[in-house]
Amino acid sequence: MSSNSYEKPDFWSKKAFSEGYPARSVYKLKEMDEKFALIKPNTRVLDLGAAPGSWTTYVLRVLAGSGHLTAIDLSPLAKDVKGDNLSFFQGDLYSPAIRKEALDRGPYNLVICDAAPATTGNRTVDTARSSGLVELAIYYAETMLVSGGNFVVKIFQGGGEQAHLLAMRKLFTSARGFKPEACRSGSFETYLIGLGKK
Ligand SMILES: C[S@@+](CC[C@H](N)C(=O)[O-])C[C@H]1O[C@@H](n2cnc3c(N)ncnc32)[C@H](O)[C@@H]1O
Repeated sequence: MSSNSYEKPDFWSKKAFSEGYPARSVYKLKEMDEKFALIKPNTRVLDLGAAPGSWTTYVLRVLAGSGHLTAIDLSPLAKDVKGDNLSFFQGDLYSPAIRKEALDRGPYNLVICDAAPATTGNRTVDTARSSGLVELAIYYAETMLVSGGNFVVKIFQGGGEQAHLLAMRKLFTSARGFKPEACRSGSFETYLIGLGKK
């Protein structure tokens, strides 16, 4: 049996399984939603880096058949993540064709991005890749959010949070960092939140 704590089901993983979510990451979004009132029925949401689909499932449950959710990932969603108001595209967020699919279904009230690079174990490389994804997600938010729309993006700590927050403060009424309780202890991921697109 592995001694890697990342492979052991912890409290959050067991809770996610029992509540029908494919991954423990759902509780990070839930906490941010409860604190910042991000997801509302009858709205349009864009979910970047969506697989296996815990955030997608949470948003679909809040939308309860209303509004629309567009989700994108390199990998497929878990097979039971479905909804009449869900459009899923498998592909690379950097690809112009994928960007067009997202653009065609916008504009959005909320853009959420939990995308994470495949990690190498080299912190400098991993944070730089995470920072690149954040820059890309900010571009999606800038070009696809409605005025007043909100934005959440994951970043590996040390990946230029302050510079990204500075860029976000030009686009949003407020922008701040937030680390949910459900992040694994020792994890170096955190989130940047932009509220009220100008
Ligand atoms: C932590 S997982 C997301 C978990 C998801 N929010 C959930 O709750 O199930 C990060 C995802 O980012 C995706 N990803 C990373 N880089 C990507 C890219 N360039 N284009 C699309 N997806 C990407 C990965 O394939 C992976 O599924």
